[in-house]
Amino acid sequence: MNPAKTDFNDRLLSLGLARVAEQAALASASLVGRGDEKAADQAAVNAMREQLNLLEIAGVVVIGEGERDEAPMLYIGEEVGTGNGPGVDIALDPLEGTTLTAKDMPNALTVIAMGPRGSMLHAPDVYMDKLAVGPGFPEGVVTLDMSPRERVEALAKAKGCEPADITVCILERPRHEAMIAEVRETGASIRLITDGDVAGVMHCAESEVTGIDMYMGQGGAPEGVLAAAALKCMGGQIFGRLLFRNDDERGRAAKAGITDLDRIYSRDEMVTADVIFAATGVTGGSLLPRIKREPGWVETTTLLMRSKTGSVRRMSYRTPMWSHDNA
Ligand code: FBP
Repeated sequence: MNPAKTDFNDRLLSLGLARVAEQAALASASLVGRGDEKAADQAAVNAMREQLNLLEIAGVVVIGEGERDEAPMLYIGEEVGTGNGPGVDIALDPLEGTTLTAKDMPNALTVIAMGPRGSMLHAPDVYMDKLAVGPGFPEGVVTLDMSPRERVEALAKAKGCEPADITVCILERPRHEAMIAEVRETGASIRLITDGDVAGVMHCAESEVTGIDMYMGQGGAPEGVLAAAALKCMGGQIFGRLLFRNDDERGRAAKAGITDLDRIYSRDEMVTADVIFAATGVTGGSLLPRIKREPGWVETTTLLMRSKTGSVRRMSYRTPMWSHDNA
């Protein structure tokens, strides 16, 4: 593929990106609540790939479904698009929250971000320790080096409220038991989620709507980069430190060109240039409504954002069931 010497035109490409997210969600719609995570994921992957290949871009997947030998489609390094447009990097998760979809629980999303080549951290598929807050706070108001208690107290002070007025979102996992206990001791409230930490982080950016002030805990590193892309558009801070459990995971980092294994990445170190971001609600939640299905019709809502302008659009799309494949 020979990327044309055209610039990354975020304005023109953004509508195409929304279509990609929409079609992935539509493809998984009939699998919501059917107990089959793999089928729902596969449907979203197929649709996202098909739509991406219609775009006039010379795209490379930098955050995708996994390494080439483990993911046949949308693997890291796969070239997508017609090959005729600007060279772009793409981070995607065709279905963020496969279990949420299979069980019809809130906040499953289709997620995709696009930026110029080299704009996003090539995070290996390992865990990442994450910490995020919304916009309007001084940089570094909370840090990964603080204890959970210190983070709650620092955020409450910056917000001019009591720790008891702070709500923290955390993935419900045994590895987070100590963190959860320490946050509870401060008097803060915790919104536990069973999956879907991209949405968890994004909730911090609209805290007046979602009620969540801060996200913390360990989740997937690829999801950390996607969340950083979202916050670059919506405003807010996120910090991430990659976590390695064994030599295989350290090898993945080496393969991705990462040498400093202890580095803490800020939002703008994970996403170094302006990007566009689209997410479509599959099961719905406080950020985005779910896919609506009526006899003969289907409707989605997509969040479409550009970091260059800080614009955040919520676009609803209604289509007859028979035509959405060709939309
Ligand atoms: P899937 O959509 O691939 O199921 O991932 C969901 C998710 O909850 C992510 O949002 C999160 O980062 C990660 O899994 C957490 O991993 P684990 O389930 O291993 O704790």
